[in-house]
Amino acid sequence: MPLDMIIGAQWGDEGKGTITDLMAAELDIVARYSGGDNAGHTVTVGNEVFKLHLIPSGIIHEGVTCIIGNGVVLNPAVFLREIDALAERGVDVSPERLKISRSAHLITPAHVALDTAKETQLGAGKIGTTQRGIGPAYSDKTDRCGLRAELFDDPEGLADAIHAHVQAKNKILQEIYGVQPVDEDEVAAQFAHYAQRLQPYLVDSAHFLHTAIKNGRSVLAEGAQGSFLDLDHGTYPFVTSSCPTAGGVLTGLGVGPKHVGKIIGIAKAFTSRVGSGPFPCELEGDMALRLRGTGSNPWDEYGTTTGRPRRVGWLDLVMLKYAANLNSFTELVVTKLDILSGLDELKVCVAYERNGERIDYYPTDLRVLAECTAVYETLPGWQEDIMSARTMADLPENARSYVQYIADYTETAVSAISVGPERSQIVKVEN
Ligand code: IMP
Ligand code: MG
Repeated sequence: MPLDMIIGAQWGDEGKGTITDLMAAELDIVARYSGGDNAGHTVTVGNEVFKLHLIPSGIIHEGVTCIIGNGVVLNPAVFLREIDALAERGVDVSPERLKISRSAHLITPAHVALDTAKETQLGAGKIGTTQRGIGPAYSDKTDRCGLRAELFDDPEGLADAIHAHVQAKNKILQEIYGVQPVDEDEVAAQFAHYAQRLQPYLVDSAHFLHTAIKNGRSVLAEGAQGSFLDLDHGTYPFVTSSCPTAGGVLTGLGVGPKHVGKIIGIAKAFTSRVGSGPFPCELEGDMALRLRGTGSNPWDEYGTTTGRPRRVGWLDLVMLKYAANLNSFTELVVTKLDILSGLDELKVCVAYERNGERIDYYPTDLRVLAECTAVYETLPGWQEDIMSARTMADLPENARSYVQYIADYTETAVSAISVGPERSQIVKVEN
């Protein structure tokens, strides 16, 4: 089908980039539909590790057109840094194959300053944002005073809008938060420069996609963040300010549901999250360290964007099943199964318990979730190294059973399993 989706099934960092990268080779268009440079994708190709925050991972493949959709908030400084770094490594980042929606909202230094000021003021109650200005930029969008990329078509209008924007934000920074203001003229000069460089990248993105789909071109919506960071369905307020779930794809790109094909949920074989908020399966101590890694490998559980050690825990199947329903997953990809090799026993959360009562669904009220403890099922582990497995038959029986347990519980077929960071380290499952 013309529009397939890659959606994070947990709290982000499920390994979506690798799967997008794998699929992109056979696609025409890869589009980001939500979030901004709070995302971080690590894609390993041979010996080269690419870390991308904003540009879709499809860019690594020649012949793929990449789109920053209308639902994205774009920091032009980060965008330029990424295209310059990619160009240096010989990747074609010309406007012919990389496009920015005119309706995407811009992130300014004032948004970044506000994000930091707000988090600092919240103290212990902080969200744990990436401090990239994501929340303030989406607030302006919802408040109908945001700056859209279309301003790059109109240098004078851009200058006026930037001055008015910085003045308004400086008032809040100084009077509400008591912090340093942002230099208005400096920001105006920066944005005048961004306009010159980025104007050629602008496109009426929904129309571009409608035409592409009509002409039979295939589009992959590349998810950022994850279902439980969704503004509506995640662990509010410990969420991001956009909708990474399947519904967000439709509004974030401007394409209707009749074109949707696969809705691929990506789930790590265990659970991780960065930032604050309840996490019933969270592990501490040696087992946490075992799952997280020390940080010496690029795939260890440390934030791509912030470098923060991620909180880790056993696989939460209650969450996963909820995500499968929120998104109508047509299939699941289980990533990082290799990390579980060598453990005697594996636990999976199959329900929660609160005040002696068993709960078998994901409660939306965080106060309830915070009081839940995980009810685990224990499954046997495997000792074999599975990194060179390429078919189900190559996997030890207990690894196959672990994957089957996930499919049965979530009532969703598992279509692939990643067993290492390399593009080739994938087990495709015949269903
Ligand atoms: P924000 O998106 O920077 O506002 O951060 C809000 C919450 O979402 C924080 O807990 C972040 O750590 C988390 N978050 C945002 N983007 C990502 C991501 O790409 N992966 C994992 N967590 C993320
Ligand atoms: Mg990430």
